[in-house]
Amino acid sequence: EKGGYEHFMLKEIHEQPKAIRDTLTGRISEDGQRVVFDEIQWPENFAQNIDRIHIVACGTSWHAGMVGAAALEKLTRIPVSCEIASEYRYRDPIITENTLMIIITQSGETADTLAALREAKARGTRVVAITNVVGSSAAREADDVVFTWAGPEISVASTKAYTTQLISLYLFAGWLAEQRGSVGATQVPEILAALRELPELAEKALGTSDEVKAFANEWASKEHAFFIGRGLDYAVSLEGSLKLKEISYMHAEAYAAGELKHGTLALIVEDVPVVALVTQDDLYDKTLSNIIEVKTRDAYVLGIAWEDDKEIAKSVDRVIRIPRTLPFLAPVLAVIPLQLLAYYASTARGNDVDNPRNLAKSVTVE
Ligand code: F6R
Repeated sequence: EKGGYEHFMLKEIHEQPKAIRDTLTGRISEDGQRVVFDEIQWPENFAQNIDRIHIVACGTSWHAGMVGAAALEKLTRIPVSCEIASEYRYRDPIITENTLMIIITQSGETADTLAALREAKARGTRVVAITNVVGSSAAREADDVVFTWAGPEISVASTKAYTTQLISLYLFAGWLAEQRGSVGATQVPEILAALRELPELAEKALGTSDEVKAFANEWASKEHAFFIGRGLDYAVSLEGSLKLKEISYMHAEAYAAGELKHGTLALIVEDVPVVALVTQDDLYDKTLSNIIEVKTRDAYVLGIAWEDDKEIAKSVDRVIRIPRTLPFLAPVLAVIPLQLLAYYASTARGNDVDNPRNLAKSVTVE
């Protein structure tokens, strides 16, 4: 059942190229120019009238939502917030009939996320659920459902669900831009072409496995790690940090790289591991200056960078390289070495990878 892999998590990490392909299947028009979402049936003018979007989720799904929020704002220019469900539901959020709510939940059964969905529905707004489980509560109760088609995810730590949530959100952002005739819709054909290459590129990114494993074995005795990045790299840093905590039990924190000097830099001393993501070309110089700040304090820096980045090796101790795609889609590839890092750190420490202590796959209690 583990298909020759030692753990479900490793199997699921390696299933990502297929999962991404399955999520894309049937959702791109034959000429490659448009997004097809036949599953979404909106009343006339609803797409035009949306004036804010609330994305609500927990944990890894919330991290996917942060990438989705950036994608939606970029392509549609509608203001988007992305919130943790257990906060959202208790804070009397401003919801009108022109609010679109998107909930993201792999299992479709997370109690707080469902409560947020019910709250929004009670206030009369439309809810789109992005979920992996057909027949789940989220799929039944939402107005519209976008399935992620990742296949069953058994390991408690989410991997292929996250990447397929990202793919669904990119598609949805492109689709909504088209429906509204947003300026961003002109970018959709280029994004779709790049999305179609991602299964193959994800396969290449999995090729970093041995390199990451060697590195994880060296790092496994450390107690603390930091993940830094800007923009989409920050969103992926949060996910890399959560994964490491969850299964290796190392203490990890993710920081927006520019925020370090507002406190956290005090923790950066000799040999402290720092994972620095540098995939956002327009923020490259800014992130590089933050890397130099931590290097000056003798941190040990692992860079996650593009295969063609000729500069980064001069400023970090080690580089893991990912294949080139649009910086906009980088999270799908950048997360792969981070998933592998968490996995191999966990096995090096002898942990129960698929069933980390204190955690359950589906959080049906509040
Ligand atoms: C972390 C993880 C959790 C879930 C969270 C939400 O690896 O799996 O953080 O993402 O419990 O679960 P769903 O997406 O099922 O609502």
